[in-house]
Amino acid sequence: MIKVKIKGTGIYAPKKVVTNFDLAEVVETSDEWIYERTGIKRRHICSTEGGEWPSDMAYEATQMALKNAGLEANDIDMIIFASVTPDYKLPNTACILQQKLGITNKCAALDIAAACSGFVYGINMVTGLIKIGAIKNALIVGSEMLSREVNWEDRNSCILFGDGCGVAIIGANENNDDSDILSVHLGADGSGKEFFDQPIGGAVEPIAETHLKEKTHFMQMKGKEMFKVATRTLAENAKLVLEKADKSLEDVDWLIPHQANVRIIETTGKLLGIDPEKVIINIDEYANTSAATIPIAMHEAITDGRIKRGQTLLLDAFGAGLTTGATLLTY
Ligand SMILES: CC(C)(COP(=O)(O)OP(=O)(O)OC[C@H]1O[C@@H](n2cnc3c(N)ncnc32)[C@H](O)[C@@H]1OP(=O)(O)O)[C@@H](O)C(=O)NCCC(=O)NCCS
Repeated sequence: MIKVKIKGTGIYAPKKVVTNFDLAEVVETSDEWIYERTGIKRRHICSTEGGEWPSDMAYEATQMALKNAGLEANDIDMIIFASVTPDYKLPNTACILQQKLGITNKCAALDIAAACSGFVYGINMVTGLIKIGAIKNALIVGSEMLSREVNWEDRNSCILFGDGCGVAIIGANENNDDSDILSVHLGADGSGKEFFDQPIGGAVEPIAETHLKEKTHFMQMKGKEMFKVATRTLAENAKLVLEKADKSLEDVDWLIPHQANVRIIETTGKLLGIDPEKVIINIDEYANTSAATIPIAMHEAITDGRIKRGQTLLLDAFGAGLTTGATLLTY
C-alpha cells in the first residue's frame, strides 16, 4: 500500500489578541485564576469586519502549507474543512475555500463537524483514500471562529476559547521514504452529547428573539464532566494507536494533544507515563481553538525545529459529541 506523508503545514492566527487581563475587564475573573486553572494567557480573536472569516484564515494557512510542500493549489485532490463555525450553512466552507484558492480541478470538498476532533477525523479519513491510490493530495483544515459562538458574559466558558486556523497537506509519499501514517483511531460517544452543546440555532430550534435576549443560543459546557472524560479518553486513544501499530510510548517523539486545558494535558501525560518534555503545548498563546489546536501546535513545532522528519508523532483529540480520535505517524 502507498505510504502517506504530511507534506506541508500552515497556520493563521487572527491579528487581534485578547489577554486574560482584557477579559477581566469584561467578566469577573483574573489572569491568575485563568492561568492556574487552564494554562491560558491570551487568545487571538477574528475581526468581525471581514478578512478573517474561517475560509480566509484557511486561505492564508493553505498558501503557507503549499509553499512548504512545494505544491500548487491544483495539486490538491480533496479538501476537508473541519469546523463547528463554518462561514455559512450553505455552501460548505470547503467549497468556498476551493474557489478562493483558485482550484479548478473540481476536487471533492466537504465540511466535517466533529468539533475539536475534526482535524484528526480529517487526517484519518483521507489516509485510506491515499493508501489505495484514490487521491494523491488532500488538504485538511481546522479553522474556527469560536468567538462568534461564545457567550462573552459567561465566565465559565468564555475564558477557554480562541480563534485560529491550522492546515496540513497530506498525500502519497512518492519518494517512499520513512514518512507514513502508522495507525489511526476514530470514535464517538453520543451519550455525552449534553456535556458540550449548542442546541439553539439548528433545525429543531431556530434562533428566536427570546434566545437572543436570554443568550441561550451560545455554546454551553459542563466543564468538570468534559475534564474527566477528556483525560480518560486521550490516554485510551494513545494506547490504542500504539497497540495497533505494535509500538510503545518510548517510540513516540512527540505527543500533540488537543489543547483544551493544560491540566487535561498534564493529567493525560501522567496517566500515560510520558515524559512531559515530549508533549507539545501552546495553549498559553491560543486557548482552545477546537479543530485548529492540533494543526497549529504541530506546525509551530515543525517550524521551530522541534519536530524533524523521521520522528514519530502522536496526534490525540477529543471534543463535543463526544468525538475522539488519534493518529500515530512518522513525520
Ligand atoms: C472550565 C474549567 C477551567 C473550570 O475549572 P474548575 O477547576 O472545574 O472550576 P469550577 O467549575 O470548580 O469553579 C470553581 C469556582 O470558580 C468560579 N469560576 C468559574 N469560572 C471562573 C472564572 N473565569 N474566573 C473566576 N472564577 C471562576 C466558579 O463559579 C466556582 O465558584 P464557586 O466555587 O463559588 O461556585 C475546567 O473545568 C475545564 O477546563 N474543563 C474542561 C473544559 C474543556 O475541556 N472544554 C472543551 C473540551 S473540547
